[in-house]
Amino acid sequence: MAISVVQWTTGNVGRESVKAIAANPGLELVGCYAWSPGKVGIDAGELAGIGPLGVVATDDVDALLGLKPDCVVYNPQWPSVDELARILGAGVNVVSTAAFINGHRLGAARDRLVDACERGGSSLMGTGVSPGFAEVVALTVAGICSRIDRVTVKEQADTSFYDSPATERPVGFGQPIDTPGLDDMAREGTAVFGEAVAMVADALGVELDEIVCEAEFAQTTADVEMASWTIPAGCVAGVSASWQGRVGDRTVVELSVRWKKGSTLEPDWVIEKDGWQIEVTGLPTVTTSLDFLPPPDFEAETIEDFMAIGHIITAVPALNAVPAVVAAAPGIVTYPDLGMPMPRGWVPVP
Ligand SMILES: NC(=O)c1ccc[n+]([C@@H]2O[C@H](COP(=O)([O-])OP(=O)(O)OC[C@H]3O[C@@H](n4cnc5c(N)ncnc54)[C@H](OP(=O)(O)O)[C@@H]3O)[C@@H](O)[C@H]2O)c1
Repeated sequence: MAISVVQWTTGNVGRESVKAIAANPGLELVGCYAWSPGKVGIDAGELAGIGPLGVVATDDVDALLGLKPDCVVYNPQWPSVDELARILGAGVNVVSTAAFINGHRLGAARDRLVDACERGGSSLMGTGVSPGFAEVVALTVAGICSRIDRVTVKEQADTSFYDSPATERPVGFGQPIDTPGLDDMAREGTAVFGEAVAMVADALGVELDEIVCEAEFAQTTADVEMASWTIPAGCVAGVSASWQGRVGDRTVVELSVRWKKGSTLEPDWVIEKDGWQIEVTGLPTVTTSLDFLPPPDFEAETIEDFMAIGHIITAVPALNAVPAVVAAAPGIVTYPDLGMPMPRGWVPVP
């Protein structure tokens, strides 16, 4: 029997999630939450750009929880602990792409989520492509090593066509290069990678002494125009953050991101190919990369259409985790708890 899911918001990732749920016989879309008032009353399929699915978006949370879905697929721009606690406390499992891996950094708010899981007998899991799936690849690759000195995942991307000032300004983009506290902004804005460092260490069975973040910035020497905003010359158009899990003074896990916009950066960061470089240093040292390409039949007329690939690879790891999260014991669960999620239901059946 298909697992019933409610889709929470239909933004970039959420729209691809709706399309993927509709295509997967193992999942049944039974409800859709709309954050934007203008989306209330519109069919989720139409919001996703496909035909109607017979599921109308609503902002009535009680009505959605009253459907008793097996799982909420949670893709809002920002996670809300109140909202998550309400869903979990009502006995509904959650898979999230919204800035959550294990809640390591949330302090007392994490305890609220754990309490809600216990009250509702539900589970919460956070993933995405990065952090999330890229770490699963790294851990899989590490599975042939008899000694592991360090696990490194480096994400790099030219994000000129990713137009999300609401999520990019908080990590430092667009700020004058001499803004005090830029490091703190990048640390705060990428903190979910610190959670992923803890997850990888857990999977390796390593107790870390500390998790640190080192940030770097590049300014643009000319205005960078994007679809909805402009980064003026002299402001940040490149952000790097390296999250490191250390034992003593030795880095055992490093998860880093390097994002740039435009071609007028100073210093001039060269990004030859968007994607992830993965290296497990040890016996043996193993390297691999995670690259993605659209298939030949992919219909894309605009750059925005191509951007959908990035949203698909964010949405699908969460969907693949749904069966294991629904079956899991109550609480916050991560990949090391769940075993390897299987990519079921994606082979098209004529
Ligand atoms: N781990 C990963 O690999 C990865 C990669 C990319 C993105 N992400 C995360 O996935 C989530 C979704 O990303 P996205 O690009 O799809 O986001 P988005 O399109 O910017 O926003 C998603 C939806 O959030 C709702 N929303 C808008 N403003 C909000 C606010 N101030 N507070 C709460 N909700 C608001 C809207 O819902 P309605 O549609 O209902 O109006 C919007 O469509 C984000 O948390 C993002 O950081 C994770």
